[in-house]
Amino acid sequence: MKLGQRPAVQGPWSDAMNAPLPGARISASYYAPLVAQADAIEARYRAQTTASARLAEQARGVFPGGSTRQGVFRRPYPFYVTEASGSHLVDADGRRIVDFWFNAAALPLGHADPDVVAALAAQLPKGTAYFAPTALEIALGQEICGRVPSGERVFFANTGGEAVMMALRVARRFTGRPLVAKFEGSFHGSHDDVLWSVSPAAADCGRADSPTPAPGSGGLLSASGRTIVLPFNDLTATREIVQREAGQLAAIIVEPVSNRMGFVLPRPGFLESLRALCDEHGIVLIFDEVLCFRVSYRGMQGMLGVTPDLTVLGKIIGGGLPVGAVAGKEAILAVLAEGDGRVYHTGTFAANPMTMTAGLATLRMLKPEVIESLNGKGARVRDELRRLCSGLPLQVTGVGSLFKVSATGNELVNYRSTLQTDVTWQETASLALLNEGCLLTTQLHGCVAMSTSDQQIDLLLAAFDHLLHSAR
Ligand SMILES: Cc1ncc(COP(=O)(O)O)c(C=O)c1O
Repeated sequence: MKLGQRPAVQGPWSDAMNAPLPGARISASYYAPLVAQADAIEARYRAQTTASARLAEQARGVFPGGSTRQGVFRRPYPFYVTEASGSHLVDADGRRIVDFWFNAAALPLGHADPDVVAALAAQLPKGTAYFAPTALEIALGQEICGRVPSGERVFFANTGGEAVMMALRVARRFTGRPLVAKFEGSFHGSHDDVLWSVSPAAADCGRADSPTPAPGSGGLLSASGRTIVLPFNDLTATREIVQREAGQLAAIIVEPVSNRMGFVLPRPGFLESLRALCDEHGIVLIFDEVLCFRVSYRGMQGMLGVTPDLTVLGKIIGGGLPVGAVAGKEAILAVLAEGDGRVYHTGTFAANPMTMTAGLATLRMLKPEVIESLNGKGARVRDELRRLCSGLPLQVTGVGSLFKVSATGNELVNYRSTLQTDVTWQETASLALLNEGCLLTTQLHGCVAMSTSDQQIDLLLAAFDHLLHSAR
């Protein structure tokens, strides 16, 4: 499918949850002029990226569908990176691109940070993986437990998705119950238990107060007896479902700020009530902070003052190398210790010394004042984007160093409200910004790193301003 060809999505959302933003002119026709330029924008991209086009062609002969990592695919084809440093990527055509996504928000210091590189260079000649533990893993574990309010103990995995899988297994063993609950529109990695209702089509969503689990992939077994789906930010409906299923429910997993929902924040009291609900019914509350841990020294839980039982981590704690971790209450994680029916966990590369080294170097640099400075850059981007979008049916959301532009004039509160965004406008805008040398996701998620300069933010703002003017 070409740019500009995605059908508008209709859905059974609740009007009450989607009140128009004050001051926004709501008009579907607002989006049409930019979308009408999609072919010209794509032609310009193709003209700039002939070497990437050749690599994409080669990739089609190697990978199913031409991609070994579907998440980084973009239409008409992705650009191929040859190197990166600070906030810059260089692509196969020699273009310098300012990165505003940093490998899905995994690099808070930027690419090839000199201190991280030096630490890795010192470790490299000492070997990259041993069939034995190291003091490095203890040091990174201590660093994490010292930050994460729920972190009495921690263990490492290779990815965030693997850590999610382990957290859910731990919860099932701890409670002796089979079901897990996730929120509609949340992404928790590629594990089968949670690849439900990640971004379902409106027709597959079911009732707003009782979402139907919709498969987020082919090849999944039925969700029945395994996963239930809850409506984010709807406490009444969530409470009703949880009370109904409580005797079977091992865990509720929630992103305190959800990426796929457009960095929508929990309503005041929502997470607190979830905490109380889990306490009442003996359910393990899991925060997935794989992406949002970066927003404060103690993560979103530290910022919001709600402490889960288990926390899943990834991305920034690996300093740019593959990582996942589960931090949580000692009494719960004790199911991994010796004993009958203990939860099994290992992994050839789990806690490998390279990842531990990069993670330690990164976290030790991310002191509270550094995170404050990073968040200051994020706030500047959001403030200035909001100024540019003022009065338009465009919405800027985000927290800390994260930001997103959504093509909707309606308030984003949950997954159903995102169904009203004009995804084609967002995708077209993303490619237009890439043509100007700024990388955001295809749906306009972005973040800043410590390497992001004021000039680079100026460049993004100028490119976005230009886009808005040219799309009138
Ligand atoms: C909130 C969240 N959880 C889990 C994951 C999965 O992490 P990984 O890609 O390391 O498996 C991601 C990845 O983007 C994520 O954003």
